[in-house]
Amino acid sequence: MDIKGKTAIITGATSGIGRVTAMTLARRGAELVLPVRSTEKGEALKKEIRDKTGNASVEVMSCNLASMNSIRQFAEAFREKHDRLHILINNAGIWEMKRRQSDDGIEMNFAVNHLAPFLLTNLLIDIIKASAPARIINVSSMIHKQARILCSMCIIRSIGIPGGKKPWPKPAKKISRCW
Ligand SMILES: NC(=O)c1ccc[n+]([C@@H]2O[C@H](COP(=O)([O-])OP(=O)(O)OC[C@H]3O[C@@H](n4cnc5c(N)ncnc54)[C@H](OP(=O)(O)O)[C@@H]3O)[C@@H](O)[C@H]2O)c1
Repeated sequence: MDIKGKTAIITGATSGIGRVTAMTLARRGAELVLPVRSTEKGEALKKEIRDKTGNASVEVMSCNLASMNSIRQFAEAFREKHDRLHILINNAGIWEMKRRQSDDGIEMNFAVNHLAPFLLTNLLIDIIKASAPARIINVSSMIHKQARILCSMCIIRSIGIPGGKKPWPKPAKKISRCW
């Protein structure tokens, strides 16, 4: 497939699979937009891609996938500059054993691995459709097979009831049952 001149967003391009993907697409002539949480890492990557591939169409933009506000800001900033998106690669993923919460009070693995790509894709879906033929690629992991979602933990904590000690409000019970 000829991807020369196609616009591609790759999340998590500063490391691992995302990094190799970014290099490969750059070599094949794609125009890259890289949402990164560390601008320092992003700028270093941009330079490396330019040096190694000769492709100067690399744009680094700030986006913390652990913050819905940051994802919205990224999508808005992207749309201000671009009216086409041919490839969206939701690659960034984490595996945290210790419980942490995102900026929105959501368990971190769930926020970054599931909600972030869902939100980002939805914020860009119209522009992707308008760019057809276009592709959305979600990079996944078999780790999810070993995981169990403790609905009470996700929901009770995200709506701010300390430790879930108080009786659950009816809506929370309902949501956790049908999760
Ligand atoms: N590696 C494997 O063996 C393997 C196996 C199966 C599936 N996968 C899947 O492949 C994908 C990539 O895995 P990988 O091992 O290549 O990942 P990795 O090397 O750990 O890199 C993760 C990337 O995600 C970024 N990231 C993490 N949290 C972020 C946040 N809150 N906001 C923005 N960016 C964030 C990181 O940015 P920073 O550089 O700023 O940390 C980094 O660029 C993941 O979805 C993973 O589940 C990997």
